Amino acid sequence: MLIEPVSKPTTPLFDERKPAKLGPFELVRADAFEWLRTATQRSLHAIVTDPPYGLVEYTPAELAKLKKGRGGVWRIPPSFDGCQRSPLPRFTVLTEEDRANLRAFFQRFAEAVFPALVPGAHVFIATNPLVSYLVYEPMITAGFEKRGEIIRRVFTLRGGDRPKNAHEEFHDITVMPKSCYEPWGLFRKPCEGRVQDNLRKWKTGGLRRISRDEPFKDLIEASPARGLERELAPHPSLKPQKFLRQIVRAALPFNDGVILDPFMGSGSTIGAASACGLRSIGIEINVEYYRMAEKAVPLLAALRTDMNGDGSSR
Ligand SMILES: C[S@@+](CC[C@H](N)C(=O)[O-])C[C@H]1O[C@@H](n2cnc3c(N)ncnc32)[C@H](O)[C@@H]1O
Repeated sequence: MLIEPVSKPTTPLFDERKPAKLGPFELVRADAFEWLRTATQRSLHAIVTDPPYGLVEYTPAELAKLKKGRGGVWRIPPSFDGCQRSPLPRFTVLTEEDRANLRAFFQRFAEAVFPALVPGAHVFIATNPLVSYLVYEPMITAGFEKRGEIIRRVFTLRGGDRPKNAHEEFHDITVMPKSCYEPWGLFRKPCEGRVQDNLRKWKTGGLRRISRDEPFKDLIEASPARGLERELAPHPSLKPQKFLRQIVRAALPFNDGVILDPFMGSGSTIGAASACGLRSIGIEINVEYYRMAEKAVPLLAALRTDMNGDGSSR
């Protein structure tokens, strides 16, 4: 049963110009793989997700280290400008075994979602430049077509450092490029026949244009979620509404069908889908994050579309 969201709070940060009808959503506390095992075949029209990378940073042991602020894969990026940064998982510490597990995880993911999607359904999957190959190859092996990458242009403080403990000696050297983008893999389940046939029959196969004159593009500028958005949904991997709303809107070309986020965290994809009047289902295994999503989704959905949640529109 899809839930009709509650009415919007009335503060100036919530948009009174937004469509009166927010999209209905269902939140499920479950292991996504278990849920997908019993999902009806060809019942979902898109997936928009930011998966755990994986098996490592959301294990109880790593979450305990994150809470303590010491050790593990979570790192506070260096503070060059005196601002406090949120912890980020550090993928350079992954071992060969972690990489093999990650690849196996995405193979399992690709095989689990394939039958549940209708032909022509798109999958948008957040990744990062260091591990994206461990996601893309299993998706293609499972039968998905790679349709490109969406580049979320974002300034982070990751990378760009001089060699550790030898800054002075190598002051002209950067060990890795400073990261200025987040790649999102874009895949499609093959269409049944031509794209036009698939669009007519399944309502999928293409991406919704920004307008008649402007196609959907693979470069989107979106700063990290902050301010009110982060207060409403304090998940360590929160994605910004400004970005997600553009993605979910593109994912359902006729505004018709159901978007799944099998790893919803605090429910930012579901909030974005609801804000755009779209139907969605979010799954989360961790009870703390599931409860966070229950509270956050209706509030995220009601946030002004032109804002990051902090009053800025960058
Ligand atoms: C990267 S986070 C997503 C955060 C989300 N982008 C947000 O804005 O809040 C991935 C989430 O997947 C959840 N997760 C991990 N394994 C899962 C599984 N098997 N089934 C469902 N959720 C899972 C984790 O608890 C975590 O909250």
